[in-house]
Formats: sequence, structure tokens, C-alpha cells
Amino acid sequence: MNEKIKNKARRLQKELTDHSYRYHVLDDPVISDVEYDMMLKELIEIEEAFPEFSRPDSPTKRIGAPPLAAFKQATHSIAMLSLDNAFDDHDVFDFHKRNVKNLNHENILYTAEPKLDGVAVELKYENGTLVQATTRGDGVTGEVITKNARTIRSVPLKLHRRKIKLPSLLEVRGEVIITRPDFNRLNKARIENEESIFANPRNAAAGSLRQLDSRITATRPLDMFVYGTGLIKGLSLQSHSQTLDELKKFGFPVNPYIKTGLLIEDVLKFYKELESLRDSLSYEIDGMVIKVDQLSFQRQLGEKVKSPRWAVAYKFPAVQKTSVIRDIIVQVGRTGALTPVAILEPVNIGGVVVSRATLHNEDEIKRKDIRIGDKALVVRAGDVIPKVVKIIRSERTGTEVLFEMPDHCPVCKSKIEKIKQDKSCTNKCVNASCPAQLKERIRHFVSKKAFDIDGLGKKIVVQLVDENMVQSFADIFLLEKDKLAGLDRMAQKSAANLVQAIESSKKISLKRFLYALGIDHTGENAAKLISQRFSNLDDVMNASGDILEEIKGIGPETASAVRSFFSNLENKIIIKNIIGSGVTITSDQPVITESSDNPFRNKRIVLTGTLQSMPRSTAKKLLEKLGANVTSGISAKTDFLIAGEKSGSKVEKAKKKGVKILDEKKFTLLVKEYDGF
Ligand code: IVH
Repeated sequence: MNEKIKNKARRLQKELTDHSYRYHVLDDPVISDVEYDMMLKELIEIEEAFPEFSRPDSPTKRIGAPPLAAFKQATHSIAMLSLDNAFDDHDVFDFHKRNVKNLNHENILYTAEPKLDGVAVELKYENGTLVQATTRGDGVTGEVITKNARTIRSVPLKLHRRKIKLPSLLEVRGEVIITRPDFNRLNKARIENEESIFANPRNAAAGSLRQLDSRITATRPLDMFVYGTGLIKGLSLQSHSQTLDELKKFGFPVNPYIKTGLLIEDVLKFYKELESLRDSLSYEIDGMVIKVDQLSFQRQLGEKVKSPRWAVAYKFPAVQKTSVIRDIIVQVGRTGALTPVAILEPVNIGGVVVSRATLHNEDEIKRKDIRIGDKALVVRAGDVIPKVVKIIRSERTGTEVLFEMPDHCPVCKSKIEKIKQDKSCTNKCVNASCPAQLKERIRHFVSKKAFDIDGLGKKIVVQLVDENMVQSFADIFLLEKDKLAGLDRMAQKSAANLVQAIESSKKISLKRFLYALGIDHTGENAAKLISQRFSNLDDVMNASGDILEEIKGIGPETASAVRSFFSNLENKIIIKNIIGSGVTITSDQPVITESSDNPFRNKRIVLTGTLQSMPRSTAKKLLEKLGANVTSGISAKTDFLIAGEKSGSKVEKAKKKGVKILDEKKFTLLVKEYDGF
């Protein structure tokens, strides 16, 4: 009897391990979350009743264990060094020239990797099983965080079996990270629970890893990429690129943006590429790590006290700098919400002079204890508005001044209302005809993703409202060239161009139109989802909250905001006037009907590898919309295999079975043609 249960435990342990790897490392699950949870529940029950059937690499270890009194310390077999920094191409050339000289070799090949902004961790595997995890600590000795590391879903608890014999010892090093979306969710939940928030994803990852109670760590969205090794016994490696390949085959997550076999010129080109990719990645990177690829060369170059001579970190320009908050002003947004803004001593952050940073709302100022005169750490990343991360309390002189939210609108002087939403509080000017709000609403209405009227920038909008030439959306479509030409910085020619741009914006898709209206909780995505559900504006205006909520991706907040927007009489008049001024709205519904034909209709399709243009789940949805049946395994019945980058065995299988293979380019071209996405 016990034997039977033992076998069941072993089978569940194995299957859950496989499914977890498919989900967290390959991003290619084959069972649903519910099925996974049910299997895990069954295994937990068995292991609770028969602890002898548990094992250190069981998936149940992912949920954490009772708290420790303190962390133990462990000395690393090989010190975990840090890296020297390079700040420009010159520094990188110097690094290369030194290598050429010391190795007496001209064409050194490098591997270049994203420098992940997280927490360095070492994982130790004995005969294939994870037995210890440590933090970097001071490089020589770190803290033992084994139970916490086991909760990280992408960390294998045991190595994948391979044809080769498993190494008796394998120490793997990498960076534990939290992705930006996970970080935002985590902080949002912490605000709701009235807990302190983390300053950035790295701090959140570090804080989560250093929990004495691993059950808390298990609730944190930790992730990991590995990038190197410590001590190894029973496996011989020749190059860093081979190391990464082998680690991947053992089941470790290796970053997909690593490039190998690069000459120094290629390394510098790749740096630019990586820098332009930086903001679109879902996790934070702060530079590129350049490593001499050949391990014999690495040994020959050796190490200094704190850093190796065979690698260098080519940092991206800083995105965080300190500055002084000279003043705090208040801006009125499109919905009337007041946003406090810090006026800063101008500071150059990564090539852009920043003199303002958003402070979000009154609560945020209180939480971060921000005062006028404070020295503050300011962050600017990509296109996002600069913000104050924290103030530097140790630099306070005592002359700093507390900020007080005004009780009247700084623009129209009407009384401010405090509106409680969830646990945060918004200060709002509720006067719908407040000129500040109108200006912002008009700016949104004509912006790129809405009516996209070229030449109608901020300064012109401000004048149009101040001169009473525009009091409502519809007035935009009645603007005449001669009147426009009377405005500041508006010559006859630009006035004519503007009138032309307004005229051609009058034909607009339903999606853009809905977005342009600036309905609460209705951004680009919600507008798109709604526009795909209804064929015309009237149907949207008449839709009940329930019908709106039935749309996948539309939550109750958006549904009710849309509903109340369209039930408001004033809004109905505004829309009537817009249409009356000559605007026509086109449908966004897919042109595909039951009878229409496309190459994917009624076809069996398998997706594999990484697509650059969209996640696989989106590709699946698109294909299904086109009438395809998307399956996971290749068989003789499969019509197409759509293969992204880094496709594995499925391509071979498809070739063997004579299944047609489409690469991403062909796939997106075909979908674009038939779906118009
Ligand atoms: S290699 C001796 N590769 O950067 C080699 N490190 O300043 C050192 N890091 O402590 C590590 N991404 O936490 C390496 N792709 C990468 C990395 C990386 C981030 C971190 C790591 C290390 C620090 C060194």
C-alpha cells in the first residue's frame, strides 16, 4: 500500500516539476493553472501524511517552510567577484587592448549579456539536486537562503537528466529579479495593505530573498536568470558560451538577449541595440556585461582583488540622480485630479535635463515625507515622466518646508473635493468647465492615439481655450484658417496646414474615438476591446454594464465608467455636436465573417519558439479569431507550424512529418492582411 503511495508521490513530483519548468522557463505550459494547483494540492497532502516521501527537490518546497531564527553564513568555494565599470566606448577599447596585449592574441571573441539589476545568488547542486543557495554577501561569505531560493519557480530544484552523467558538483550563479509589472502589482498590494512600498524592483527582490520566513518569500514574484558558474566537479567546459548552453540544457533560465562569438566592434554595436531595447524589456537592466569567451583565456588573464580582468560592465547612462526640490506646484489634469509636481534644480539625467518630477498625489508626499528644500533622488527611465524616488533625509538642514495641498483649484478657484477611492485619496477640482481641465481634455482628444491632429500642440491648445475659440470638442472642427492665423506663432501657412490636418482627422475609427473621449478607466486597450465588440457608436452608447463586463479584459470599473459616461446628458450632447461637425466613425470589427476566407481558417496550427512582435498567447488569440485550431503537439494532421526564434525540436518534427513551417515574418504579414492588426 505504502509503495503505491510512494509511487504516486514520485509521479506527482516529476510531473509537477516538468510542468513548472514548461511554465516558468519555457513559457509553454501544457496544462491549466487549475490542473497544476490540484496536482500540487494532492502532493502536499501525501507529503504531509508521509513525510518520508518528501524530498529536498519536491515541488512542495516551492511554497516555503517555517521561519528560521537567523540566516547561517557560508563561505563561497570560489569568491563571488564584482565587475569593473566602463562608461564609454573608449573604456571598452582599453579593456580590449589590455586583453590583446596580455593574451598576445588579436581576434578575441566576447560574449555580451544584459547586466541585470537584481540580486546575485549562488545555487549549489550535488549530484543534480539543489542543496544550498547563498547570497553574494561580501563576496567571500554569504547568507544561506536555500529555503527561499527553492520558492523561485524558475530555479530548478534538480537538474534535468541528460545523456551525459550529471556533475557531482555544480555551482551556478545568477541574478534574482522581479519584473516591472510584478513589482508594480506587489507595491500596489502593499499600499492597499498599508505596508511600506519598495523603492525599486532590486530592493523588492533583495527584501524578499532575505525573509526568515520562506512562506513569505514564496508569495513574492521572484524570477532568475543564470549567467555563470562557481566550482564544478564532473563536467568540463571550454568557453563561457558553452557554459550557458549547458546550463540551459540542465533546465536553467538563461537570458535570451545574450550574444556570443562577438568581436569587439560587434560588442559596441550590440551595446547600442541593447540600450534601445532597454525600456521595452519587462525587467530592469543597467548595462551590458562583456566577457572574454574562452575559459583558458579567462584563466590566463586572471583576477584582481575584487574583479576579474576578463570581464567588464559597460554601464548605461544613469537614470537616477540627486537634485534639490525648489518648490512644489499643483497641476490640474483632464479629470480634474490635482497632481503635485516637484520643481527641481535642473539636473542632467542620462542626457536629458530634468527640472520637474511628478509626486503623484498628496498621500505619496506624506508617505515619502517630501518637503520643499529636500535633496531627492530622481529617476527618469525612457519616456516615462521623471519621479522622485525618495528624499535624502541625512541632508536635511531643518529649513525644509512642509507642503500643503490647496483647498481651491489653482486655476478656476473652485473648491477642491477629496475623493476617496480604495485606500487612496484624490483631490479633485469638480468644476467641469475649469479651463485647466478643458485644455488637458482637448490635448488628449487631439493626441497621437486619438484624433491625431498634427500641429495642434500644447501652446496652441492653451491659446484656443484662453481665447474662447474652443469651449468643447466639436469647436475644433469649426476652426477657420483666418482666425487661427491670428494666434501667436501661427503663420498663414501653418494655419492652412492645421485646417487641413483637422479636416483629414474627421474620419476616425471607433477605437480612437472612444479613447479620445477620455472616459475614466478607458485607455487605449479598453477602447480597443470595446470597439471590437460593437459595430458602431450607438451600440456602445446603448450597451448595458453587464454586456460591457462580458467583454474579456473589461473589468467592472471600466464597464461602469463607460456606462455612466454615456448616460450623462451633457456627454450625449457633446457627442451629437462632434458628429454634427462632420466626424464619421468607422468600425473596428474584424472584417472576417463566417463565410470569408483566410489561410488559417479551419487549420490546425502549432506555435513554437519566441515571437518578437507579440507574446505567444496573443498570437494564439489572433489565430483563433481567424478560425484556426491552435494545438500544442505536432502530428500528421497539423497544417502549419509557426516558428519564432529559438524554436526547439518541433521544427525538426514538423520537417519530418512534412508540416509547412512559417517564420514570424510570414506569419505576421498574413495575419496583418487578414486581420488588420
Ligand atoms: S558576471 C566575475 N554577468 O553584476 C563576474 N554579473 O558588478 C561577475 N550582474 O555581482 C558576475 N548581470 O550581481 C555577471 N550577466 C551578468 C550580470 C552580472 C548582473 C551583477 C552581479 C554581480 C554584479 C557585478
